[in-house]
Amino acid sequence: MFANRIALITGGGSGIGRAVANILAKESASIVIADQSINGANETKQLIESQVKSGVKHLSLEVDVSQMDSLKRVFKAINENYDNRVATLLVNCAGITRDQMMTKLSEQDFDKVIAVNLKGTFMATQLFCQQMIENKQTDGSVVNVSSVSAKLGNIGQSNYNASKAGVEALTRTAAQEMAKFNIRVNVVMPGFINTPIVQTIPQKVLDQLISNIPLRRQGKPEEVGEAIAFLLSPKSSYITGTILQVSGGLAL
Ligand SMILES: NC(=O)c1ccc[n+]([C@@H]2O[C@H](COP(=O)([O-])OP(=O)(O)OC[C@H]3O[C@@H](n4cnc5c(N)ncnc54)[C@H](O)[C@@H]3O)[C@@H](O)[C@H]2O)c1
Repeated sequence: MFANRIALITGGGSGIGRAVANILAKESASIVIADQSINGANETKQLIESQVKSGVKHLSLEVDVSQMDSLKRVFKAINENYDNRVATLLVNCAGITRDQMMTKLSEQDFDKVIAVNLKGTFMATQLFCQQMIENKQTDGSVVNVSSVSAKLGNIGQSNYNASKAGVEALTRTAAQEMAKFNIRVNVVMPGFINTPIVQTIPQKVLDQLISNIPLRRQGKPEEVGEAIAFLLSPKSSYITGTILQVSGGLAL
């Protein structure tokens, strides 16, 4: 389904991003895994190369999505490694939490989460769309990742929830502006998914969270990955500016 397509996945060195990489690789995409953890990015590359013998070239790169220069280096590396071709699929999966009650939250931890989750998504999407337009490419798809927390207003996550609500608002506008270039921009909104980012949640809190989920379990990274792959694929060619919730039926 993704033959001859280059897919850039930020945060592809772990969790949901790694699951997407695996799914897209099975559908013949060239995967560019860009992560702050180069070890994580390398591991994802090795994983997909060991599981999928498609013969296409994959790349693992170090990036800090909160830094424009760092992101620019990623887009340059894509051009250099793929004969001046550009990525036409983008998944903004890089994300962090710095949880604290609002009255105790430091300015640094507020800024850091906004810089990675919201500004990082903005800058990667901007560079991706600029490159596609400059190179007269159409049929692009961007998937951004928000969170049910933005709607639920989880305690201790004012910075994270604000960043994810911002990602949704950014996506709506980007979808409107990019539609004339046939670049679609959508959001996947996960619930509680079993990845390293939620492994600091105490078991008692986790049990409470799970009891509120109609499907009565945490989601798997692959289950979010499949929803992302759908929004990247031609199967969703008439869908843009939308939010797809993947949360086991959580009522928001
Ligand atoms: N797991 C969940 O329950 C859940 C729920 C809702 C939303 N999300 C969102 O899904 C996305 C993926 O999260 P995950 O669960 O796979 O977590 P994860 O921690 O497994 O993966 C996040 C990845 O982002 C990378 N990263 C962090 N800061 C970065 C930076 N500045 N530049 C580049 N890479 C950076 C990390 O190294 C890591 O590999 C995040 O945006 C997260 O907020 C996750």
